[in-house]
Amino acid sequence: MRFIFRPPAAEAAGLLGLPWDRPLTSWPDDVLTTVPQRGISRHVVRFVASEGTVYALKEIVEPLARKEYALLGDFAAEGLPTVDVVGICVDRPDDQPAILITRYLDYSVSYRHLFSTPRGDLSVEPLIDTMVQLLVRLHLNGVFWGDCSLSNTLFRPDAGTMDAYLVDAETVERHATLSDGQRLDDLDIAIDRVGAELLDLQAGALLPAGVDPVETALGLRAKYDALWNELVREEVVDPDNRASGLTERLQRLNDLGFDAEEIELVTSDVQAVVRVRTQVAEPDNHRRELFRLSGLEVQENQARRLLGDLRGYRACLEQRDGGELPDTVAGHRWVDEAYQPVVDSVPADLLGRLAPAEVFHEILEHRWFLSEVEGEDVGTTTAAQSYFSTVLRHTAPALPEAGSLIR
Ligand SMILES: Nc1ncnc2c1ncn2[C@@H]1O[C@H](COP(=O)(O)OP(=O)(O)O)[C@@H](O)[C@H]1O
Ligand SMILES: [Mg+2]
Repeated sequence: MRFIFRPPAAEAAGLLGLPWDRPLTSWPDDVLTTVPQRGISRHVVRFVASEGTVYALKEIVEPLARKEYALLGDFAAEGLPTVDVVGICVDRPDDQPAILITRYLDYSVSYRHLFSTPRGDLSVEPLIDTMVQLLVRLHLNGVFWGDCSLSNTLFRPDAGTMDAYLVDAETVERHATLSDGQRLDDLDIAIDRVGAELLDLQAGALLPAGVDPVETALGLRAKYDALWNELVREEVVDPDNRASGLTERLQRLNDLGFDAEEIELVTSDVQAVVRVRTQVAEPDNHRRELFRLSGLEVQENQARRLLGDLRGYRACLEQRDGGELPDTVAGHRWVDEAYQPVVDSVPADLLGRLAPAEVFHEILEHRWFLSEVEGEDVGTTTAAQSYFSTVLRHTAPALPEAGSLIR
């Protein structure tokens, strides 16, 4: 047998003791980890925990395992949202297929998990929106997915929105750029797959009433076209207001999570045409700023939300003590005095349901909501206790064997 791992290889050492010579289906229960409900898969997929990290193992023929291993590595290097690949195991005895090893995406959930354990009013549209964003990102980078579906996408709550990650790259084709025909073929595949998956949910009485599976799937096309056109269209701007026309166009791109790689401005006496070559922006300004100030690593919208709270906290401290605080002092005081106490107050049996930053965000929302009802600020401690019993307790665990892992 042969193992091929991406650095850092240290974590791989813990995995080497697993029974790789046996078919995944016959691995004993005590080496496997149960995870919340997953997407539908063709291959045998199992999960294991090693030194506090959970890994997904997929049995798949060697050429495809090698292909997926290389592609997922490239995607990560390019900043595309995907699961982290760790390595492959090949040359297993008795001509068994290879095994692809990826790191379990923490706090991610499959669409089946979301629909089987809905929190409040689960709406399909945000899932479709975030999938469209993902597909457009891939297409801008010359990636033809070939199997875009709800099952092949993982979802992660991000302060009121959802982030989407590609999980299955087996069918991917890479090109320098995609033709319109290739993009639209890929979109047709997505519509077919999503339609079938939603019909399946409906058959299992899991789809919210009033959601039409076929209409919803077909709706992908309009959403995709609108986003794609916004990103690539040429724009004629008033030659006298070239600068502001250009600024507005770039601002819209940024708002959508994209950046201009190159801008071409063609002017004549009568008009100016702006052409923008768009690229995927790593939407991480807030993440980076929060990390600089506090050392916390969270998702982008969560970071935006937490930074707002940090600024408010800092302003209070500065007003009370009558002086400016250095950035990192303010950041660390906010972590120690505001953020961490709330995160630490999550009851042990409710750990692993949502990422700590998501819990903090939801408590802030809950505090606002309760304060509106009460007509006065209820404070974070009261809000947190109420949130734990009325909201978090009714949220399904998202981490494998929640509670046994680190917070
Ligand atoms: N790294 C991972 N993190 C979280 N879930 C995963 C991971 N890898 C696979 N899964 C889950 O397992 C399911 C099947 O994996 P996938 O790669 O799509 O297999 P297949 O090629 O058989 O379709 C996915 O839908 C997803 O729910
Ligand atoms: Mg799949």
